[in-house]
Amino acid sequence: MTQQQPESRAVALRGIVKRFPGVLANDHVDLTVAPGEIHALMGENGAGKSTLMSILYGLSHPDEGTIELDGRSVTFSSAAQAIDTGVGMVQQGFALFNSLTVTDNVVFGAEPTRFGLLDRRRSRAAVAELIERHGLRLRPGDKVGDLPVGVRQQVEILKLLYRRARVLILDEPTAVLTPAETDRLFDVLRGLAADGHTILFVSHKLHEVLALSDNVTVLRDGRVTLRTATADTDRAALAAAMTGRDVELDKIYPTGSPGDIVLSAQGLTVAGHGKPALDDVSLEVRAGEVVGVAGVAGNGQTELVAAIAGLRALDAGTVTVLGKDIGRLAVRERRAAGLAHIPEDRVETGSAQGAKLGDNLATGFQRRLARRGWLRPGRIRDHAREIVEKFGVRAANQDVPMRTLSGGNQQKAILGRELTHDAPVLLVEQPTRGVDIGAVVNIHRQLIEYRDAGHALLLVSAELSEIRALADRVLVMYEGRVVAELTKDEATYTALGLAMAGGAS
Ligand SMILES: Nc1ncnc2c1ncn2[C@@H]1O[C@H](COP(=O)(O)OP(=O)(O)OP(=O)(O)O)[C@@H](O)[C@H]1O
Ligand SMILES: [Mg+2]
Repeated sequence: MTQQQPESRAVALRGIVKRFPGVLANDHVDLTVAPGEIHALMGENGAGKSTLMSILYGLSHPDEGTIELDGRSVTFSSAAQAIDTGVGMVQQGFALFNSLTVTDNVVFGAEPTRFGLLDRRRSRAAVAELIERHGLRLRPGDKVGDLPVGVRQQVEILKLLYRRARVLILDEPTAVLTPAETDRLFDVLRGLAADGHTILFVSHKLHEVLALSDNVTVLRDGRVTLRTATADTDRAALAAAMTGRDVELDKIYPTGSPGDIVLSAQGLTVAGHGKPALDDVSLEVRAGEVVGVAGVAGNGQTELVAAIAGLRALDAGTVTVLGKDIGRLAVRERRAAGLAHIPEDRVETGSAQGAKLGDNLATGFQRRLARRGWLRPGRIRDHAREIVEKFGVRAANQDVPMRTLSGGNQQKAILGRELTHDAPVLLVEQPTRGVDIGAVVNIHRQLIEYRDAGHALLLVSAELSEIRALADRVLVMYEGRVVAELTKDEATYTALGLAMAGGAS
């Protein structure tokens, strides 16, 4: 373990306690991080990671405990105060203005002025200088709305650097990134640490934590269960500290026994900017089969699912479900024909944050849960309890507002609700994004049960380990086309990687 002198501690949280109604979110947590250190914070969904980071960032106040920065005790009553003191946080959803440029976003609220007017030239130069110094792949004049997610995240980081943050908190920054974007982010973070910045990095991904961090702290039920130098630990030990048990990592399920074709898509074409976003794609999914779609983000996977689900109009091609042509039907009619879709942004599009958890879980089941047109509270409760238990959703009770659930628990709740619809064909995107490793194992088991009950699944995932675990067959997309089709045995990391780079035909 690295021994730190007290004065070299950039951040010291001591004895932090935070209670919410029915939950002890942080239970006497100690966390110290040195200048120039990258410190990873891990733990199950609801373990208290975001709560602890919001306390450090001044968004939330601890019930007990102290915060020290560079050896001095501080109390923040707002995020603005935290940033003035050098602490910045990139939260999960970005807070950028899409219609403005990189520079305007970065300086927003902290603009340099000249004779009381905005000094555009100076702000542009300052932003350009920071981009250069930290090796970011950004241009000051680019419009944020036109940038890919990974680049937008760099804008968020730049905002913090512009405000002279020395402590940077990133809460699950890689959840929405492609592997290449993640690598780039890690280079940036390593550079910042070498420059003396202190980085707090929240992640569920074991390989990322092992690759990036100097030290790790693991929380379980609000309490620290492990604090170690990263070099002294491994995947199994981290998993055990998080869950309190041994987790079967990297389980690969045997193939199922496919029946008749249930979903058939032929010659799907969707126009894009210049090149088609989807170029003559055909696929079939049988009952009792999981077909995985792999590819580097932005190669047509999103458009493929959107076209089948009815969210994007087809320029050519046909889609049939159970033999019925649905290619020109509205989303609702496709649902009625037996097609369900779990989008990657399911929490945003599929939940009402202010409504109760129980009511969120009842959405779409009104008819099943009603009698003579009246919703029956008892049935809503039973229905919600079933999903909560099956998917391990952790919440104080069903009556708490959705927004008080931790990020991963919201993900589990919506996924569980959608799987409960029992549709013959399921399009599912990034099913385990943001959920902890124990929950990944459970969700994988649920998806395989769904398959084995005779449903057809089209699975889009950025996690190759997930594709390998679940898919009976894998289609690899590259530049809007399916460039390879692999059996489960053929779909090794090497073969997938090669095809994803466009290297197979
Ligand atoms: N505003 C709130 N009101 C009530 N309970 C809350 C609130 N914020 C968080 N909680 C509860 O505190 C606990 C810790 O939540 P937190 O968001 O810190 O978890 P997390 O470790 O970040 O999980 P995840 O990996 O899912 O993001 C959870 O039980 C959550 O439901
Ligand atoms: Mg969180």
